[in-house]
Amino acid sequence: MNILILGSGGREHAFAWKLAQSPLCDNLFVAPGNAGTTQIATNIPISYNDFLAVANTVRDKKIDLLIVGPEEPLVKGIVDFLRQQPDLADLRIVGPDAEGAQLEGSKDFSKQFMLRHGIPTAASKSFTAETLQEGLAYLESHSLPIVLKADGLAAGKGVIIAESVVEAQTTLSDMLDGQKFGVAGSKVVVEQFLRGIELSVFVLTDGENYKILPEAKDYKRIGEADTGPNTGGMGAVSPVVFANQTFLKKVEDKVVKPTLLGLQQENIRYQGFIFVGLMKVNGEPFVIEYNARMGDPETEVVLPRIQNDFVQLMTATADGELDKLSVQVSPQTAVTTVLVSGGYPGDYQTGKTITELERLEDVTAFHAGTLAKNGQVVTNGGRVLAITAQANSLENAVRKSQEAARMVQFDGKQYRKDIGLDLLRYAD
Ligand code: AMP
Ligand code: GLY
Repeated sequence: MNILILGSGGREHAFAWKLAQSPLCDNLFVAPGNAGTTQIATNIPISYNDFLAVANTVRDKKIDLLIVGPEEPLVKGIVDFLRQQPDLADLRIVGPDAEGAQLEGSKDFSKQFMLRHGIPTAASKSFTAETLQEGLAYLESHSLPIVLKADGLAAGKGVIIAESVVEAQTTLSDMLDGQKFGVAGSKVVVEQFLRGIELSVFVLTDGENYKILPEAKDYKRIGEADTGPNTGGMGAVSPVVFANQTFLKKVEDKVVKPTLLGLQQENIRYQGFIFVGLMKVNGEPFVIEYNARMGDPETEVVLPRIQNDFVQLMTATADGELDKLSVQVSPQTAVTTVLVSGGYPGDYQTGKTITELERLEDVTAFHAGTLAKNGQVVTNGGRVLAITAQANSLENAVRKSQEAARMVQFDGKQYRKDIGLDLLRYAD
């Protein structure tokens, strides 16, 4: 089978790594990929937002299975575009169409969807430029802190947690009037702040059947003890020790099942991953957000724990045959530590030579922002590498991942030294 993965991050390297292990995988391509994917697949230097170039690659390389990694092409309708090509009718695709991707592409859509289907989430109200005055008045009597979310895709930067009414009012005005987030902020969801612990649950659905994949916790802030600005993700852990069977059963019954039923009732054909961002509040799950894709760096801990042939799992998703498979999950703990460029998440330099990668043992270094150049691997993004270790205990997995993170070198390297440590108090 010929397979094409769209994307260039650690998530896509992890997909490629997992797919390449399958005897069913003949030729593997990643567009555009990175220095890690080029070691196990063929990189295609096209943009995943260039739908025509993607369609032509599918034709040229006789692709049977396409996996869309990032949200942007999904929200922009790459799946719809490809399905409209009569000669690509046989192409299997993992990823929702534009309507399904609205679960991530519009915070207002996902809020309304949750309300329609009785899915637990924070109470909220949406405002536009026309209703700004009403919004400002609404904030006056809102409990603190106040969560404000730009409606559209904002690359993880669209959520502001305001500590005072004045700050919330200024933010709302900036977003709606000042176009702080461009069109993404033309509508703003104002919601109640949920106090609890966060985790993510991943669902794979073929439109009818579903499988719940291993859950994960990620570390979004740049600084240790969750301080400083938000990033794309500084590390992740799976399993999440505080997500016990009772809680996960509640997630399945109160969130996963109604979400999938809701999609079916609304005639949204969804074949792909649903990433459910959750807050556990007094033992109950509340949905913070949906994403229409896998998480990054969560994929780098979720996939290593899945023991199935991944080509089979992806094919079953696209063919509507997930009921024929069961997902086998390793009981080991996986921890990934992300190495980022100096200055990230602000301005950072690229082109720094990465060394010592060949010395790593018993870990998997997933490449995120890297480039192969003149026989060397150089940095090419904010998040550079995600180093995953697996072990029989959380403590050992943390230690192995951290030791490897220390060993790899590049100018300006930063990483968090506390990935997973907060979870040790829950561990046996
Ligand atoms: P999102 O972009 O929706 O993932 O939100 C970014 C982060 O903001 C989440 O990971 C949470 O930590 C936080 N957040 C979002 N919504 C809420 C909420 N209602 N209550 C508390 N924290 C929230
Ligand atoms: N790690 C968060 C995300 O992928 O959105």
